[in-house]
Amino acid sequence: MVFETEINEAAEVLRRGGLVAFPTETVYGLGADASNLKALARMFAAKGRPTSHPVIVHLADVMMLPEWASEISSAAVRLAERFWPGPMTLILPRAQGVLDAVTGGQDTVGLRVPNHPVALGLLKAFGGGVAAPSANRFGRLSPTSAEHVRMDLGILVDMILDGGACTVGVESTILDLSREHPVLLRPGAITIEMLTEVLGEPPLTREASSTRAPGTLKIHYAPKTPLKVVNSEELMSFVESLLSTDKHVAVMARRPLPVANPNVHWLVAPSDAKNYAHDLYANLRFLDSLGSDRIIVEAVSTDVDWHAIQDRLQRAEGNG
Ligand code: TXA
Ligand code: MG
Repeated sequence: MVFETEINEAAEVLRRGGLVAFPTETVYGLGADASNLKALARMFAAKGRPTSHPVIVHLADVMMLPEWASEISSAAVRLAERFWPGPMTLILPRAQGVLDAVTGGQDTVGLRVPNHPVALGLLKAFGGGVAAPSANRFGRLSPTSAEHVRMDLGILVDMILDGGACTVGVESTILDLSREHPVLLRPGAITIEMLTEVLGEPPLTREASSTRAPGTLKIHYAPKTPLKVVNSEELMSFVESLLSTDKHVAVMARRPLPVANPNVHWLVAPSDAKNYAHDLYANLRFLDSLGSDRIIVEAVSTDVDWHAIQDRLQRAEGNG
């Protein structure tokens, strides 16, 4: 439970150039005043993130868009009306005065109105744009609880607003509207189908657009333990082959373990996409904490509802 006094105090911390971690419906953000260079420098340092990497600016209200974006297309207006507040980030041409530290020196800016009472309360109390990447160390799993933030950033953050577990559990859908055609840079809870309905045409995917999205590194959101995604049919034989070489394995499957084994930690993940996403990062953090040799994840469905999850599992596999 977060009280108004805490939210006001957090807004004050932002005004002084401090860092506030706050819950959104997707993941926890590490907030800094998007107009304060020193605050942004502290935020990049706390995350251990390269300064060329752009951050999303969070706004209390769609009415603030013209302060941050120089061109707001009719598609942007329609999408904002439909999905904000919500788990969608729009990349738009930046307004004059938006700091290079926010945009990574590009001529575009990422903007989002999050759908969480604490986030919206903080943004309203603060009044300006809040730059907020996910509140984890660079390259690690995004935090979906205040406890995750404490473990990752500890004293590097001035204040953590604890809003409990995030409902969505994976980061926002990112749609680039600054080019000739809309490009989906990161899948999320707002699916391609939902975007298509509003746009009247499907957005291009990053691969199809052949433009490299800055900052979308291949290895990202990774646990420390090597992770591998394995098809359902091969899951058991793969686990057994590792066990036969005396390895300890942590498995995230969607069915129970047939025969108990002391060298296997078997976790059964939810069978529907919403709950699977909600638990995803907490489950991966837990499996990562066991100190096993490998994390094995049973592959998920290829349906559109699982698109964001598939994307995050692929990224987590980067170092596996
Ligand atoms: O759900 C979310 O989006 C969460 C919550 C806190 O809002 N935030 C989040 O931020 O995931 P972050 O920084 O971890 O990921 C933002 C992504 C990065 O991959 C960054 O490269 C991309 O957004 N991004 C930000 N501004 C951009 C821009 N102008 N052009 C292209 N990509 C941009
Ligand atoms: Mg992140």
